[in-house]
Amino acid sequence: MSIEAVINVDLDGPRINRHVYGHFAEHLGRCIYGGFYVGEDSDIPNEGGIRLDVVEALRALNIPNLRWPGGCFADEYHWQDGIGPKDQRPVMVNTHWGGVEENNHFGTHEFMALCELLGAEPYISGNVGSGTVREMSDWVEYLTRDGDSPMARLRKANGRDEPWRVRFWGLGNEAWGCGGNMTAEHYAQEARRYGTYCRDYGDNKLYKIAAGANATDYGWTETLMKQIGHLGCQHIRSTAYHALSLHYYTITGPTWDDKGSATVFDTDEYYTTMVSAARIEELLAGHAAVMDCYDPNKTAGLVLDEWGTWFDVEPGTNPGFLYQQNTLRDALVASVHFDVFHRYADRLVMANIAQTVNVLQAMILTDPDSKAMVLTPTYHVFQMNRGHQDATSLRVDFRDAPPTRPVGDATLTTVSVSASRKDGRLLVSLSNLDASSAADVAIDLRGGTVEAVEALILTSGALQDHNTPQSPSVVAPRPYDGVSLTGGKLRAHLPAHSFVTVSGSLST
Ligand code: AHR
Repeated sequence: MSIEAVINVDLDGPRINRHVYGHFAEHLGRCIYGGFYVGEDSDIPNEGGIRLDVVEALRALNIPNLRWPGGCFADEYHWQDGIGPKDQRPVMVNTHWGGVEENNHFGTHEFMALCELLGAEPYISGNVGSGTVREMSDWVEYLTRDGDSPMARLRKANGRDEPWRVRFWGLGNEAWGCGGNMTAEHYAQEARRYGTYCRDYGDNKLYKIAAGANATDYGWTETLMKQIGHLGCQHIRSTAYHALSLHYYTITGPTWDDKGSATVFDTDEYYTTMVSAARIEELLAGHAAVMDCYDPNKTAGLVLDEWGTWFDVEPGTNPGFLYQQNTLRDALVASVHFDVFHRYADRLVMANIAQTVNVLQAMILTDPDSKAMVLTPTYHVFQMNRGHQDATSLRVDFRDAPPTRPVGDATLTTVSVSASRKDGRLLVSLSNLDASSAADVAIDLRGGTVEAVEALILTSGALQDHNTPQSPSVVAPRPYDGVSLTGGKLRAHLPAHSFVTVSGSLST
């Protein structure tokens, strides 16, 4: 029996901000060094040390923004260490991530060059935890001020005449933890102070993002919302910050010391992962509800600037490097997140998966020995969903509640669907999370005519399947003929543990 749903293709929901398909690159493990950046002397083709095959693969995702330099690293990073001649840059210790020596060869200019190559907007996280207001203020001036000023002069001396355009600016990271162990009340004052001195130069208007809550810490969000307006709950925003962040990771194991393996897991563990992933809906709903109390017109943004799976590191790798494999299970975690992001498009303005290369739920893994690059199952979800970027979201209403299954004390909804419209095309994303049973979905498409439907499927024989340099396309999208459209009804057969996208031309 089919699961019945309705989409009114002519009823506009909010725009899905393309920035919810954003990325995150920290000085952590092999994300920057050995991932994005191999150095100019590498035999891997590069431009200014930036690995070109990685760039090319990410350009195919239309990645809208890249967050850098952390994460926890951001609050011990002093940007002036990463400018000027490389051989004169000081070495620091990356205390958070393996205690390795950081030579600062990848700094501000290299990051901006990377963003230019990717066609992505930079999102810079400033240092509140161990930095100073002046240091952050100077960084903004260095990057964005034209004309003659101390920092603009320094930038020019380092070879860049024109200021860059940098909109997204983070006021620290995880201030409740690695970013300074502050209370919400203390941090809110700090965010206002730091935000005050991060200036708009010329037509570069900063969008300042305060370091927000961890998971269910709704009190943190409320404290920041109270402080976002000059007069508290008066619905007037100050210019100190425009958005709040939120971090939520999909954890499977019972404790941080036992998070489970990325590749060796049974069906029960799989379902536990999916329940953890699906909690993103409860969290976005909860934080959005708190924000609504103080900002009913939704002028402040919610930025989920760290999300994704976090498993135990691969055996034999540095525990501080957070290197994990990526299976079909990760792909389904991503597809479920995106459905939720599309549903909360009225409040969620940005999201950044952690992290783009070689760390946590990566799009790309590089092999340190063979130097080969592998696209992960998660990469393919970003690719199949890229048509949702800046599209008009469309509601998906189920006639009856979609199927569920009990998982411990929780209940997992096993079919997830979202849809959008852009440039005369409809895009529907469908996930079947059931590990062993197929699902049939029939969607009434009302209010327009859809034609020339094409479908792609991402699935594999086993949930544990993943791509390696030897077998790079075990989990990769393939054209799919299990979809039909007759009389305005879209029928999709979803095999067990599969992700399907359907697109077609649309006239309303
Ligand atoms: O993404 C890895 C780390 O997770 C980040 O540095 C930190 O912000 C979070 O705790």
